[in-house]
Amino acid sequence: MREEPPAEHSGLTRRRFIGSSALTAGGLAVGIGARRASADPRLTLVPLGHQPHGLPRRQHAWTKYLAKDAYGNPLAPHFDRLLFFDVRGTPTPAHARLLESRLRTLERHFRWSHKGLLFTVSWGPSYFRLLGIASPIPRAKRLSSFEHPAIDNYDLCIHLASDDEQRLEQIVAALILGHRLRGVGGSLSLRPALIWRATRTGFTGAGIPAAHQNVKGIPAGNPVPATSPLFMGFQSGLRKNQASEDAVTIERGPFADGTTMHVSYMREQLDDWYRKLSEQTRIALMFSPETTPGGEQLITEDKADTTADAKAIVKAIEHYGMVGHSQATAQARKHGRPLILRRDFNTTDDDYAGLHFVSLQRSIQDLIVTRNAMNASGAHLINKQITATRNNGINAFIDVRRRANYVMPSRVDRSFPLLPGRASVV
Ligand code: HEM
Repeated sequence: MREEPPAEHSGLTRRRFIGSSALTAGGLAVGIGARRASADPRLTLVPLGHQPHGLPRRQHAWTKYLAKDAYGNPLAPHFDRLLFFDVRGTPTPAHARLLESRLRTLERHFRWSHKGLLFTVSWGPSYFRLLGIASPIPRAKRLSSFEHPAIDNYDLCIHLASDDEQRLEQIVAALILGHRLRGVGGSLSLRPALIWRATRTGFTGAGIPAAHQNVKGIPAGNPVPATSPLFMGFQSGLRKNQASEDAVTIERGPFADGTTMHVSYMREQLDDWYRKLSEQTRIALMFSPETTPGGEQLITEDKADTTADAKAIVKAIEHYGMVGHSQATAQARKHGRPLILRRDFNTTDDDYAGLHFVSLQRSIQDLIVTRNAMNASGAHLINKQITATRNNGINAFIDVRRRANYVMPSRVDRSFPLLPGRASVV
């Protein structure tokens, strides 16, 4: 029997899953049930259904299908859901066929676009243990001295994203509860093959965080700027401040055209951020001490300022006794671009302001290198005013509660990758 790890630091509500209200209310709804219930006797080879032509080979090929801002930066879909499952019983080709047929139904029904539906399916180390083979990705671990995350142990994660939140709710209810989806003949339920474990919810986009700021972690008085896409203010995800999809794609082997995915959950504690700090200090901690108020708005495509500059970070540490988040993480660039492609989104799960940090990278090591850079743990050797969480980017304001690593196969291999016998039925 596997349950959510003891919520020592997580404080997540163990909400009993009693109906679709648990889905619509948002929050980290958590499934219950035996860790590995035996296989459903109704699990037979279901019809596979055809797949629309022209879908990208890469599941993570989203960028071309997103809206763009005035400068050509891709805009993340407005709403997201992360669904976590374990495999029901021992995996068989019939499991693979059921999952694949459900996913193809979604592809036929919704356009591959932020206006329709984008999704990915990724597999955790515990799935590969079930198959009795070495996992291509390591189990997640804590990545800074000041965090104590629970490490998730789910077999798979489905990430759904769309500009239409109601549509996401309906899809989630169809996949988990077997509700009918209008216009779709037949069931979309994953139950015969998978045990649902947890749902996480969230959003991005100018103005949406401000509309959701009445939660724990954010002080009273509506401090979140009206047009900010993030609870902390400012904007993220500029074109050249992201790795490209090509750069994060695995090139060879059974996961060629796939990638790796890290999923963490962090709560934001923004009382001091908004109450005690001036706007200039917030900008310094988010970008760099040399970024001037208003200057951060000029950063439309790339760090035209000094944040990515190695000499500038030494100056920031020595002269200002303060390091910016963007400046610190920018030390992990390769060929002038970051190593990771961030697909994170804000959340109010469990009534806390937070962030579901979804990042894609060719290897999990790229994420570790980036997080080490963000920790800026050597800064105190140069200037004692900087500690792990003092004057050090946004480290003092985030509390990492959960972490997990997954591998995301190519589209053709997304359902039960490497399972013996799958090729003959999928
Ligand atoms: C609440 C949490 C976070 C917030 C509000 C946040 C916000 C931001 C903002 C505003 C930027 C600058 C704009 C941009 O470059 O797109 C940025 C850059 C960046 N952040 Fe974060 N971030 C958060 C957490 C993280 C985490 C956990 C990581 C990974 C370990 C990370 C990695 C990066 C990277 C790689 C960059 C780009 C650096 C470069 O230009 O090379 N961020 N972030």
